[in-house]
Amino acid sequence: MVGQSVKDLLSADDIDEADLADVFSKAAAFADGALPARAGAKMIGLFFEQESTRTRIGFDVAASRLGHHVVDVSASPGSRLGKAQGEDLEDHIRTVSEYCDLIVARTEHVATVEELARLTHLPVINGGNGIGEHPTQALVDLFTIERRLGDIRQLSVALSCDPTARHALSFMKLLALRPPQRFTLCLAPETILSNVAAAAIDDLRASGTIIDRVDNIVATLDHDVLSIQTQKAASIISGRIGEMDAVQHVEDEKFTLTAEKVLRSRSKVMIMNPLPRHSETDKSCDSLPNAAYFEQVRLSIPVRMAVLSRMLAGRRWAGRSHSRSRPEWPETSSPTSSPCSRGPSAEAGPLVS
Ligand code: CP
Repeated sequence: MVGQSVKDLLSADDIDEADLADVFSKAAAFADGALPARAGAKMIGLFFEQESTRTRIGFDVAASRLGHHVVDVSASPGSRLGKAQGEDLEDHIRTVSEYCDLIVARTEHVATVEELARLTHLPVINGGNGIGEHPTQALVDLFTIERRLGDIRQLSVALSCDPTARHALSFMKLLALRPPQRFTLCLAPETILSNVAAAAIDDLRASGTIIDRVDNIVATLDHDVLSIQTQKAASIISGRIGEMDAVQHVEDEKFTLTAEKVLRSRSKVMIMNPLPRHSETDKSCDSLPNAAYFEQVRLSIPVRMAVLSRMLAGRRWAGRSHSRSRPEWPETSSPTSSPCSRGPSAEAGPLVS
């Protein structure tokens, strides 16, 4: 595997520092209004097995801004994919590959996105695969932090969310390319990390980042950046908390961020959330200058434009061979013996960004 670049963006492990610098320099140019000379409109296939607002619409908008087109290639009432008298995934993907130039996929199961990448000669972008990864969200998050606060290597970063959240794993992996001064996980004391998350944190520690763990959101407010989302994604997805109204009010008080807590701490923390939010980010935070979650949404467009433009131009990614630790994705992982590890849990679903 060493030295093999890849056509797909399936994991944050596929990205090295040169890839990151290239995406961010293109994204900065797009964010500042640059547009490439038109080189022929391409067709982007959107294969989504789970709901998505930001990723699906964001890629659609990014493609349109570049002068390209999108087509929905998901299973739908009008398609034969998955139907009793229909077609299997292989024939479906081989067919749509003849119509498209690139596929963006959000899949229910971790392994499906790799299966898609094997079935097609086209480049595939992982738009979130079960409890796997969400590499373009992590690119958006890191780009947004650096646009607002500068070099992340000078900053302290806290992460408060369900540790099975796919954006979180990709984010921690990307941080290892530009390690912050300090990285703090905010989790309930009983929560044990998956071996992939523990490995990503080991990579950060090995890069010189000071690692800490707290169990109250107030203890993160002295950081430069806080990325927050619900701690209860797995419960929400498994149906243990099913009603939308209950979902909106589900977070424990100590993991809930309110404007009152931020103001009482006189905190300058940059508040990030990949969205959708639940009750962990109280709407009172929205009017604070700290809030950056809709800035993330806005900056997702130039980042996705940058990713699309390099992949449509045939540019490859460094590939996972460059990664220092390469444990299996969570669907196939087992708990490690470390006290900060945890076993596999319910697969992520549409309420996880
Ligand atoms: N952040 C994110 O992935 O949002 P969606 O689930 O709406 O795509």
